[in-house]
Amino acid sequence: MIIEAVAHPNIALVKYWGKRDTALNLPAAGSLSITLDKLRTRTLIELGPAGAADVFSLDGVPVEDRRVLATVDRFRALSGRSESVRVTSDNNFPTAAGLASSASGFAALVTALAAALAPELTLAERSVLARLGSGSAARSVHGGFAEMAEGERDDGSDAFASPVLPPDAWPLEVVVAVTSEARKKAGSTRGMEDSRLTSPFYGAWVESTRADLAPAREAVRARDFDRLAAIAEHSALKMHATMMATRPALIYWKPATLAVMAAVRDLQEGGVPVFYTMDAGPQVKAVCAPGKGEQVEAALRAVPGVVRTLRVGLGPGARVVSP
Ligand code: PMV
Repeated sequence: MIIEAVAHPNIALVKYWGKRDTALNLPAAGSLSITLDKLRTRTLIELGPAGAADVFSLDGVPVEDRRVLATVDRFRALSGRSESVRVTSDNNFPTAAGLASSASGFAALVTALAAALAPELTLAERSVLARLGSGSAARSVHGGFAEMAEGERDDGSDAFASPVLPPDAWPLEVVVAVTSEARKKAGSTRGMEDSRLTSPFYGAWVESTRADLAPAREAVRARDFDRLAAIAEHSALKMHATMMATRPALIYWKPATLAVMAAVRDLQEGGVPVFYTMDAGPQVKAVCAPGKGEQVEAALRAVPGVVRTLRVGLGPGARVVSP
């Protein structure tokens, strides 16, 4: 039996940066994201004889990934099954695009494993299992707009993402302006821990993120673009301020990152509904009102230092694509 699942990366509009528990990937505060279309991870699961080694390959290359193997073990434990598992994944987008492939990767993995071993799992439980692999993956279980809960419990059973609005209810577009194709060096877990331990802004960052969630959720439900734009840009900028004030400093921007941000500001001043957001890398994601993506892409492609652009829409949640 082979099971195939697909999931898409997501981009946070209210950002996640900091954990209250690193082992369980419990976030210090909630977050809110959009799941994209076109870009996807596809994961095939094949069950084998009990006791044989689990194997994982990504884009045709065998990889020893502790987090993937731990996810497989978790599913075996909770289902009471004993088969070995072959996991075969591929991404149709480059890692250097600055779109977290761990988010689509763990959402696809959990969805495929659930279909193979634990079909009774709810979406909330799948989101918890995806979170254990990668914090942002909890959100890619859902399509469109999703909100990750901070949760209160020590075991993390209430730290999962929930849907806020389906993709077709407000089909925003996203232009990714790639300013560097270099692979990033530092992992996010280490960076988040460094920020928690050393950034003087960390406490204010966590508190103010909690305060951003309700207005962001309301702006999404009201399809209030300007209100969401203001919250999202502010969230991205204060996350980067917290990163920059970390020791050692986490400076992800390139000169072209700032040039794209300035170009987005120019578009806004010309009346174009668009805002920027940046993650742990130098690329800028420009989020546009429905129908504005083409115009924004043309403007950003012309910014000196932009290597290439990518234009996508909002997509569905993780799903099985074969029985
Ligand atoms: O879950 P991770 O390790 O992929 O961390 C995601 C961190 C950011 O992309 C910078 C912000 C976010 O909320 O996605």
